[in-house]
Amino acid sequence: DIERARRFEEIAEELKKRDAVIVAHYYTDPDIQALAEATGGCVSDSLEMARFGRDHAASTLLVAGVKFMGETSKILSPEKTVLMPTLEATCSLDLGCPVDEFTAFCDQHPDHTVVVYANTSAAVKARADWVVTSSVAVDIVEHLDSLGEKIIWAPDQHLGRYIQKKTGADMLLWDGSCIVHEEFRARGLEQMKALYPDAAILVHPESPESVIALADAVGSTSQLIKAAQTLPQKRMIVATDRGIFYKMQQAAPDKILIEAPTAGEGATCRSCAHCPWMAMNSLDNILAVLRNGDQEIHVDPALALRAKVPLDRMLDFAK
Ligand code: 13P
Ligand code: SF4
Repeated sequence: DIERARRFEEIAEELKKRDAVIVAHYYTDPDIQALAEATGGCVSDSLEMARFGRDHAASTLLVAGVKFMGETSKILSPEKTVLMPTLEATCSLDLGCPVDEFTAFCDQHPDHTVVVYANTSAAVKARADWVVTSSVAVDIVEHLDSLGEKIIWAPDQHLGRYIQKKTGADMLLWDGSCIVHEEFRARGLEQMKALYPDAAILVHPESPESVIALADAVGSTSQLIKAAQTLPQKRMIVATDRGIFYKMQQAAPDKILIEAPTAGEGATCRSCAHCPWMAMNSLDNILAVLRNGDQEIHVDPALALRAKVPLDRMLDFAK
Protein backbone atom coordinates (compact mmCIF):
# COMPACT_ATOMS: atom_id res chain seq x y z
CA ASP A 1 0.00 0.00 0.00
CA ILE A 2 0.99 3.62 -0.44
CA GLU A 3 1.58 4.43 3.23
CA ARG A 4 3.91 1.43 3.56
CA ALA A 5 5.82 2.34 0.39
CA ARG A 6 6.26 5.88 1.70
CA ARG A 7 7.59 4.53 5.00
CA PHE A 8 10.05 2.29 3.16
CA GLU A 9 11.31 5.27 1.17
CA GLU A 10 11.75 7.41 4.26
CA ILE A 11 13.66 4.64 6.01
CA ALA A 12 15.80 3.92 2.94
CA GLU A 13 16.79 7.57 2.86
CA GLU A 14 17.81 7.56 6.54
CA LEU A 15 19.76 4.33 6.04
CA LYS A 16 21.71 6.00 3.27
CA LYS A 17 22.41 9.11 5.35
CA ARG A 18 23.79 6.97 8.17
CA ASP A 19 25.61 4.45 5.96
CA ALA A 20 23.48 1.82 7.70
CA VAL A 21 22.12 -1.61 6.83
CA ILE A 22 19.30 -3.63 8.43
CA VAL A 23 20.04 -7.02 9.98
CA ALA A 24 16.69 -8.64 10.80
CA HIS A 25 15.54 -11.90 12.36
CA TYR A 26 12.84 -14.15 10.87
CA TYR A 27 10.61 -13.51 13.89
CA THR A 28 10.22 -9.79 13.23
CA ASP A 29 7.14 -8.36 11.54
CA PRO A 30 6.86 -9.29 7.82
CA ASP A 31 6.99 -5.58 6.95
CA ILE A 32 10.39 -5.32 8.62
CA GLN A 33 11.64 -8.42 6.81
CA ALA A 34 10.44 -7.01 3.48
CA LEU A 35 12.10 -3.69 4.31
CA ALA A 36 15.41 -5.39 5.13
CA GLU A 37 15.30 -7.24 1.82
CA ALA A 38 14.33 -4.16 -0.18
CA THR A 39 17.20 -2.12 1.26
CA GLY A 40 20.05 -4.60 0.83
CA GLY A 41 19.99 -5.94 4.38
CA CYS A 42 19.50 -9.49 5.55
CA VAL A 43 16.74 -11.57 7.07
CA SER A 44 18.10 -14.69 8.72
CA ASP A 45 18.68 -16.84 11.77
CA SER A 46 20.87 -15.68 14.61
CA LEU A 47 24.05 -17.27 13.23
CA GLU A 48 23.76 -15.59 9.83
CA MET A 49 22.76 -12.28 11.43
CA ALA A 50 26.05 -12.34 13.34
CA ARG A 51 28.05 -13.15 10.23
CA PHE A 52 26.25 -10.70 7.95
CA GLY A 53 26.69 -7.82 10.40
CA ARG A 54 30.36 -8.60 10.89
CA ASP A 55 31.13 -8.86 7.18
CA HIS A 56 29.05 -5.98 5.82
CA ALA A 57 30.88 -2.79 4.87
CA ALA A 58 28.28 -0.41 6.39
CA SER A 59 29.48 1.63 9.36
CA THR A 60 26.13 1.32 11.17
CA LEU A 61 24.12 -1.85 11.74
CA LEU A 62 20.44 -1.57 12.53
CA VAL A 63 19.65 -4.85 14.25
CA ALA A 64 15.93 -5.68 14.23
CA GLY A 65 15.49 -8.50 16.71
CA VAL A 66 16.29 -8.72 20.40
CA LYS A 67 19.07 -7.32 22.53
CA PHE A 68 21.45 -10.27 22.49
CA MET A 69 21.55 -10.01 18.69
CA GLY A 70 22.54 -6.35 18.85
CA GLU A 71 25.17 -7.14 21.48
CA THR A 72 26.60 -9.96 19.38
CA SER A 73 26.91 -7.58 16.42
CA LYS A 74 28.66 -4.99 18.58
CA ILE A 75 31.06 -7.56 20.05
CA LEU A 76 32.01 -8.77 16.57
CA SER A 77 32.31 -5.23 15.14
CA PRO A 78 33.28 -2.83 17.93
CA GLU A 79 34.15 -0.16 15.37
CA LYS A 80 30.58 -0.10 14.03
CA THR A 81 27.64 1.77 15.50
CA VAL A 82 24.93 -0.75 16.39
CA LEU A 83 21.39 0.60 16.70
CA MET A 84 18.23 -1.25 17.61
CA PRO A 85 14.61 -0.16 17.14
CA THR A 86 14.28 -0.48 20.93
CA LEU A 87 16.73 -1.54 23.60
CA GLU A 88 13.77 -2.88 25.60
CA ALA A 89 13.49 -6.01 23.44
CA THR A 90 15.04 -8.79 25.46
CA CYS A 91 14.64 -12.59 25.67
CA SER A 92 13.46 -14.90 28.47
CA LEU A 93 16.59 -17.02 28.03
CA ASP A 94 18.87 -14.02 28.53
CA LEU A 95 16.78 -12.87 31.54
CA GLY A 96 16.85 -16.36 33.03
CA CYS A 97 20.65 -16.54 33.11
CA PRO A 98 22.04 -13.73 35.30
CA VAL A 99 25.81 -13.55 35.08
CA ASP A 100 26.56 -13.79 38.83
CA GLU A 101 24.59 -17.00 39.32
CA PHE A 102 25.95 -18.41 36.12
CA THR A 103 29.55 -17.63 37.05
CA ALA A 104 29.07 -19.27 40.46
CA PHE A 105 27.66 -22.37 38.74
CA CYS A 106 30.62 -22.55 36.34
CA ASP A 107 33.08 -22.04 39.19
CA GLN A 108 31.59 -25.08 40.94
CA HIS A 109 32.45 -27.23 37.92
CA PRO A 110 35.90 -26.08 36.79
CA ASP A 111 36.53 -29.30 34.84
CA HIS A 112 33.61 -28.56 32.47
CA THR A 113 33.72 -26.79 29.12
CA VAL A 114 31.24 -23.91 29.17
CA VAL A 115 28.93 -23.77 26.15
CA VAL A 116 26.30 -21.04 26.01
CA TYR A 117 23.52 -20.34 23.58
CA ALA A 118 23.73 -17.05 21.68
CA ASN A 119 20.57 -15.96 23.55
CA THR A 120 22.61 -14.64 26.50
CA SER A 121 24.13 -11.37 27.71
CA ALA A 122 27.60 -10.25 26.69
CA ALA A 123 28.74 -10.93 30.27
CA VAL A 124 27.58 -14.56 30.13
CA LYS A 125 29.28 -15.01 26.76
CA ALA A 126 32.46 -13.60 28.27
CA ARG A 127 32.43 -16.46 30.83
CA ALA A 128 31.97 -19.11 28.11
CA ASP A 129 34.40 -21.27 26.14
CA TRP A 130 31.95 -21.58 23.25
CA VAL A 131 28.91 -19.71 22.02
CA VAL A 132 26.53 -21.64 19.77
CA THR A 133 23.27 -20.96 17.95
CA SER A 134 20.71 -23.65 17.21
CA SER A 135 22.12 -24.02 13.66
CA VAL A 136 25.43 -25.38 14.93
CA ALA A 137 24.77 -26.46 18.53
CA VAL A 138 24.56 -30.19 17.83
CA ASP A 139 27.70 -30.20 15.66
CA ILE A 140 29.75 -28.25 18.19
CA VAL A 141 28.69 -30.38 21.15
CA GLU A 142 29.37 -33.52 19.11
CA HIS A 143 32.85 -32.18 18.41
CA LEU A 144 33.49 -31.41 22.10
CA ASP A 145 32.13 -34.81 23.12
CA SER A 146 34.50 -36.52 20.68
CA LEU A 147 37.35 -34.78 22.52
CA GLY A 148 36.04 -36.28 25.78
CA GLU A 149 34.98 -32.95 27.24
CA LYS A 150 32.29 -32.58 29.89
CA ILE A 151 29.94 -29.70 29.21
CA ILE A 152 28.04 -27.00 31.05
CA TRP A 153 25.13 -25.98 28.85
CA ALA A 154 23.08 -22.77 29.33
CA PRO A 155 20.49 -21.41 29.30
CA ASP A 156 17.84 -23.32 27.26
CA GLN A 157 17.02 -26.60 28.99
CA HIS A 158 14.95 -27.96 26.09
CA LEU A 159 17.60 -27.37 23.47
CA GLY A 160 20.16 -28.74 25.94
CA ARG A 161 18.16 -31.92 26.51
CA TYR A 162 17.67 -32.36 22.78
CA ILE A 163 21.41 -32.03 22.13
CA GLN A 164 22.23 -34.34 25.02
CA LYS A 165 19.91 -37.01 23.63
CA LYS A 166 21.24 -36.61 20.13
CA THR A 167 24.95 -36.64 20.98
CA GLY A 168 25.09 -38.61 24.23
CA ALA A 169 27.40 -35.91 25.59
CA ASP A 170 27.95 -35.43 29.33
CA MET A 171 26.06 -32.16 29.93
CA LEU A 172 25.01 -30.18 32.98
CA LEU A 173 21.92 -28.18 32.00
CA TRP A 174 20.83 -24.71 33.13
CA ASP A 175 17.04 -24.52 33.56
CA GLY A 176 16.10 -21.60 31.28
CA SER A 177 13.41 -21.66 28.62
CA CYS A 178 11.92 -19.62 25.81
CA ILE A 179 8.44 -18.34 26.70
CA VAL A 180 7.31 -18.75 23.10
CA HIS A 181 8.44 -22.31 22.42
CA GLU A 182 7.62 -23.70 25.86
CA GLU A 183 3.93 -23.04 25.06
CA PHE A 184 3.78 -25.70 22.35
CA ARG A 185 2.06 -28.87 23.52
CA ALA A 186 2.31 -32.46 22.35
CA ARG A 187 -1.37 -33.21 22.98
CA GLY A 188 -2.62 -30.40 20.77
CA LEU A 189 -0.07 -31.32 18.15
CA GLU A 190 -1.21 -34.94 18.15
CA GLN A 191 -4.81 -33.81 17.72
CA MET A 192 -3.81 -31.60 14.82
CA LYS A 193 -1.81 -34.42 13.26
CA ALA A 194 -4.93 -36.60 13.52
CA LEU A 195 -6.79 -33.94 11.52
CA TYR A 196 -4.00 -33.75 8.92
CA PRO A 197 -2.30 -37.15 8.94
CA ASP A 198 -0.39 -36.29 5.79
CA ALA A 199 1.27 -33.22 7.33
CA ALA A 200 4.95 -32.93 8.28
CA ILE A 201 5.74 -31.49 11.73
CA LEU A 202 8.54 -28.90 11.92
CA VAL A 203 9.83 -28.03 15.40
CA HIS A 204 12.36 -25.56 16.78
CA PRO A 205 14.45 -27.31 19.46
CA GLU A 206 13.60 -24.69 22.12
CA SER A 207 10.28 -26.60 22.36
CA PRO A 208 9.53 -29.20 25.06
CA GLU A 209 10.91 -32.72 24.60
CA SER A 210 7.44 -34.24 24.04
CA VAL A 211 6.86 -31.82 21.14
CA ILE A 212 10.29 -32.50 19.61
CA ALA A 213 9.50 -36.22 19.81
CA LEU A 214 6.66 -35.73 17.28
CA ALA A 215 8.76 -33.83 14.74
CA ASP A 216 9.69 -34.81 11.20
CA ALA A 217 12.32 -32.07 11.22
CA VAL A 218 13.99 -30.33 14.19
CA GLY A 219 16.20 -27.33 13.62
CA SER A 220 17.01 -23.65 13.75
CA THR A 221 14.80 -21.20 11.91
CA SER A 222 16.87 -21.44 8.72
CA GLN A 223 16.93 -25.23 8.94
CA LEU A 224 13.13 -25.31 9.32
CA ILE A 225 12.73 -23.13 6.24
CA LYS A 226 14.95 -25.56 4.33
CA ALA A 227 12.88 -28.49 5.63
CA ALA A 228 9.68 -26.85 4.38
CA GLN A 229 11.27 -26.70 0.93
CA THR A 230 12.74 -30.17 0.85
CA LEU A 231 10.32 -32.44 2.72
CA PRO A 232 7.88 -34.08 0.31
CA GLN A 233 4.72 -33.36 2.34
CA LYS A 234 2.43 -30.64 1.04
CA ARG A 235 1.19 -29.58 4.46
CA MET A 236 3.47 -28.44 7.29
CA ILE A 237 2.58 -27.95 10.96
CA VAL A 238 5.14 -25.47 12.29
CA ALA A 239 6.12 -25.17 15.95
CA THR A 240 8.04 -21.93 16.17
CA ASP A 241 7.34 -18.18 16.21
CA ARG A 242 4.82 -17.34 13.51
CA GLY A 243 7.10 -14.60 12.17
CA ILE A 244 8.83 -17.38 10.25
CA PHE A 245 5.83 -17.87 7.94
CA TYR A 246 6.75 -14.88 5.79
CA LYS A 247 10.06 -16.30 4.56
CA MET A 248 8.99 -19.93 4.80
CA GLN A 249 6.05 -19.32 2.49
CA GLN A 250 8.31 -17.41 0.09
CA ALA A 251 10.79 -20.28 0.08
CA ALA A 252 8.10 -22.94 -0.30
CA PRO A 253 5.21 -21.25 -2.13
CA ASP A 254 3.33 -24.45 -2.90
CA LYS A 255 3.24 -25.66 0.70
CA ILE A 256 0.36 -25.17 3.14
CA LEU A 257 1.73 -23.87 6.45
CA ILE A 258 -0.20 -24.31 9.68
CA GLU A 259 0.62 -22.94 13.14
CA ALA A 260 1.18 -25.61 15.77
CA PRO A 261 -1.22 -25.32 18.72
CA THR A 262 -0.08 -23.65 21.97
CA ALA A 263 -1.12 -24.23 25.56
CA GLY A 264 -3.39 -21.21 25.86
CA GLU A 265 -4.98 -21.59 22.43
CA GLY A 266 -4.82 -17.85 21.97
CA ALA A 267 -6.62 -17.04 25.19
CA THR A 268 -4.32 -17.38 28.15
CA CYS A 269 -0.75 -17.93 27.07
CA ARG A 270 1.65 -15.05 27.42
CA SER A 271 3.15 -15.47 24.02
CA CYS A 272 1.07 -17.61 21.70
CA ALA A 273 3.58 -18.43 18.98
CA HIS A 274 4.84 -14.89 18.81
CA CYS A 275 7.67 -13.43 20.82
CA PRO A 276 6.52 -10.30 22.66
CA TRP A 277 10.03 -8.83 22.45
CA MET A 278 10.43 -9.43 18.73
CA ALA A 279 7.04 -7.72 18.37
CA MET A 280 8.47 -4.52 19.88
CA ASN A 281 10.24 -3.84 16.57
CA SER A 282 8.22 -1.73 14.14
CA LEU A 283 8.66 0.45 11.07
CA ASP A 284 7.93 3.45 13.30
CA ASN A 285 10.71 2.81 15.79
CA ILE A 286 13.12 1.85 13.02
CA LEU A 287 12.56 5.25 11.43
CA ALA A 288 12.78 6.98 14.81
CA VAL A 289 16.09 5.42 15.80
CA LEU A 290 17.62 6.17 12.41
CA ARG A 291 16.63 9.80 12.88
CA ASN A 292 17.74 10.26 16.48
CA GLY A 293 20.28 7.47 17.06
CA ASP A 294 19.27 7.06 20.70
CA GLN A 295 18.83 3.27 20.95
CA GLU A 296 22.50 2.41 20.58
CA ILE A 297 24.07 -0.79 21.87
CA HIS A 298 27.15 -0.34 24.05
CA VAL A 299 29.23 -3.20 25.37
CA ASP A 300 32.11 -2.57 27.73
CA PRO A 301 35.20 -2.97 25.49
CA ALA A 302 37.11 -5.27 27.87
CA LEU A 303 34.05 -7.51 28.27
CA ALA A 304 33.47 -7.48 24.52
CA LEU A 305 37.02 -8.66 23.90
CA ARG A 306 36.44 -11.67 26.14
CA ALA A 307 33.01 -12.42 24.68
CA LYS A 308 34.43 -12.27 21.16
CA VAL A 309 36.67 -15.29 21.77
CA PRO A 310 33.87 -17.92 22.04
CA LEU A 311 31.86 -16.15 19.31
CA ASP A 312 34.80 -16.27 16.89
CA ARG A 313 35.26 -19.93 17.79
CA MET A 314 31.67 -20.61 16.70
CA LEU A 315 31.96 -18.63 13.48
CA ASP A 316 35.24 -20.34 12.58
CA PHE A 317 33.75 -23.76 13.34
CA ALA A 318 30.66 -23.02 11.23
CA LYS A 319 32.56 -21.74 8.19
P1 13P B 1 17.58 -19.21 15.42
O1 13P B 1 17.08 -18.20 14.44
O2 13P B 1 19.07 -19.17 15.49
O3 13P B 1 17.03 -20.56 15.17
O4 13P B 1 17.13 -18.73 16.89
C1 13P B 1 15.84 -18.70 17.28
C2 13P B 1 15.60 -17.71 18.35
O5 13P B 1 15.08 -18.00 19.36
C3 13P B 1 15.89 -16.34 18.15
O6 13P B 1 15.22 -15.65 19.10
FE1 SF4 C 1 14.03 -15.34 23.25
FE2 SF4 C 1 12.15 -17.07 22.64
FE3 SF4 C 1 11.85 -14.54 21.96
FE4 SF4 C 1 13.70 -16.06 20.73
S1 SF4 C 1 11.49 -16.32 20.65
S2 SF4 C 1 13.95 -13.97 21.49
S3 SF4 C 1 14.33 -17.39 22.38
S4 SF4 C 1 11.94 -15.34 24.05
